[in-house]
Amino acid sequence: MLIIGCSNSRDIAKDIAGDLKKKAKVKYAELETARFPDGEIYVRYPVPVKGHKVVLVQSFYGNISDEMMEVVFAAQTAKDLGAKEVALVAPYFPYFRQDKRFKPGECISIQVVAKMLNRFIQRLFVVDPHLHRLNSMYDVFTCKCHKLTADPAIAKYIKNNLKNVILIGPDWESYRWAEKTADIVGCDSAILEKKRYSATKVDVRINKKIDLKNKTVVLVDDIISTGHTMEEAIKDLKKIGAKKFVIICVHSLFIGDALKRLKKTGAKIISCNTIKHTTNRIDISPVIQSALSDRMI
Ligand code: R5P
Repeated sequence: MLIIGCSNSRDIAKDIAGDLKKKAKVKYAELETARFPDGEIYVRYPVPVKGHKVVLVQSFYGNISDEMMEVVFAAQTAKDLGAKEVALVAPYFPYFRQDKRFKPGECISIQVVAKMLNRFIQRLFVVDPHLHRLNSMYDVFTCKCHKLTADPAIAKYIKNNLKNVILIGPDWESYRWAEKTADIVGCDSAILEKKRYSATKVDVRINKKIDLKNKTVVLVDDIISTGHTMEEAIKDLKKIGAKKFVIICVHSLFIGDALKRLKKTGAKIISCNTIKHTTNRIDISPVIQSALSDRMI
């Protein structure tokens, strides 16, 4: 197996390759990437790929379209050069939230992106894809799909670092993360109700009685993007007496001044390293390592 660090995820790619390199016939290399003067993308493998199972590691955030094009180029090149199989590890995979036409005429982006990648990769590993209206990654992908989760790693962090906690999901979509993680931690959980008016305007409500007395409120969600969901949830929870907050997310997008606004709430902010960020405290590379060991070695 040849693990390839693509331009946006070299750190986590190295971590994933780390222990695997000791255990099996696993090699690590970084994809050479550059730009032509007109902005076109250049990619090159610095090592032979013939006969290898090539695992591209790339999270998609920041400059998603360029990162996607880089993966398409790398995947097709690996195939051209005789790779046995091409897999993509996308610790964070985008576009899952655009899984329906919310307004007439809109593109269902996840379907298009999946259709494109299906042509180039044989296997896809994603950490906590935002499956909301989709039941499974197979609703859009035809390659072999592996849905990984950060739940146990988040639960371990909570057990080792926090006491007297209640886990709260800011909307019903987050019940999977909040409830499952609470089960592993062995603590109570509650789900709030969210109404989204636009990408940046949300309203979060508390719809049932929650006992927060002397509790550390741990808000858990898969993605923090603009941070408005968490901000609104904290505002409401403060009104019913919550004082101590920890925010934990899997994918730390933190768009614009999201982090600054969330820090102002007084909450401690923790994320997993699917996206490189200063808030990363929970390492999910062991989850990916074990999936690769099971499926590809
Ligand atoms: C959506 O349902 C997700 O689970 C998150 O709650 C959402 O993406 C957070 O977005 P924002 O930080 O922009 O409120």
